[in-house]
Amino acid sequence: MSEFIGRLHPLLVHLPIGFLVLLGMFEVLARWPWGQNLMPAIRVIIILTLPVALTGIVCGWLLADSGDYDGQLLFWHRWLGVALGVACSGLLVLHWRGQLRSYRWALGGTLGLLVVVSHFGGSLTHGKDFLSWPKPKLPASQSGLTGDLRGQVFYTVAIEPIFKQSCVNCHGSNKAKAGLRLDTAANLLAGGESGSPIEPAGATQSLLGKRLALPLEEEEHMPPDGKRQLTSSELTLLNWWLDAGAPTDKTVQELNPPTQVLKILGGPSNAPAVEPTKHQ
Ligand code: HEC
Repeated sequence: MSEFIGRLHPLLVHLPIGFLVLLGMFEVLARWPWGQNLMPAIRVIIILTLPVALTGIVCGWLLADSGDYDGQLLFWHRWLGVALGVACSGLLVLHWRGQLRSYRWALGGTLGLLVVVSHFGGSLTHGKDFLSWPKPKLPASQSGLTGDLRGQVFYTVAIEPIFKQSCVNCHGSNKAKAGLRLDTAANLLAGGESGSPIEPAGATQSLLGKRLALPLEEEEHMPPDGKRQLTSSELTLLNWWLDAGAPTDKTVQELNPPTQVLKILGGPSNAPAVEPTKHQ
């Protein structure tokens, strides 16, 4: 039950966010004579903001207890979220007492805090890098991989980064759900409660492949619903690697992946010279 209520958090928090932003906009508009008639509306919004903010905080608290979230991000999101709740009560009190100047300053501060809290919240749900400046696409020769992609270990360049990004939060040194750690090749091979998650038989048969392929609604789908999901490129890499027998020490050249996989890895220019098929 508390888990269900907790899951309403990502939905509910958008209500106080909307209210606070609207308050900010109304305050600006009310500076013009024609904006004066917004005053009564401002009062209503302030009164409504507090209960919805508090409901959001309570749901967030329940969600935090039931979910698996990055500890540090969660700490900041949780406590700054509580501070935001306190700020909302402060706004109500100041406005009530007619201390409008202080109220406006406080509103500015609250909006600033809101940005920070939302950023932590977004990072918790979508992954730390969700809101990062798009990285410039380096010309193939500069992206590090390329110089000699062929000589590099496939697992290190293609698979490990995916595990690091999407799995080690729960399958790493802090937490090892189902006894499984995916932070190093050795730990991966050691497996978890159900034994090794990979097997030479290939992607579809391996425990890892099965978990990834399950529909999102299934309890056992990985990464669990609500967490950052793998992209189709990441899935292509993982599945190809599993089909190739999930080697952790073979180089790209030894495995000789198809162009589709090489493209994802480092752009077509890195592909070991593959002759384009000629159509007559
Ligand atoms: C939010 C936490 C979380 C994340 C992120 C996560 N898992 Fe899991 N994983 C779990 C939990 C909890 C279990 C145990 C419950 C179950 O079997 O569903 C589990 C179990 C597994 C198992 C079964 C292990 C065994 O021996 O029974 C595999 C395989 C697995 N996860 C793979 C992955 C992969 C691959 C990723 C990344 C793409 C991933 N998980 C991301 C929480 C997570």
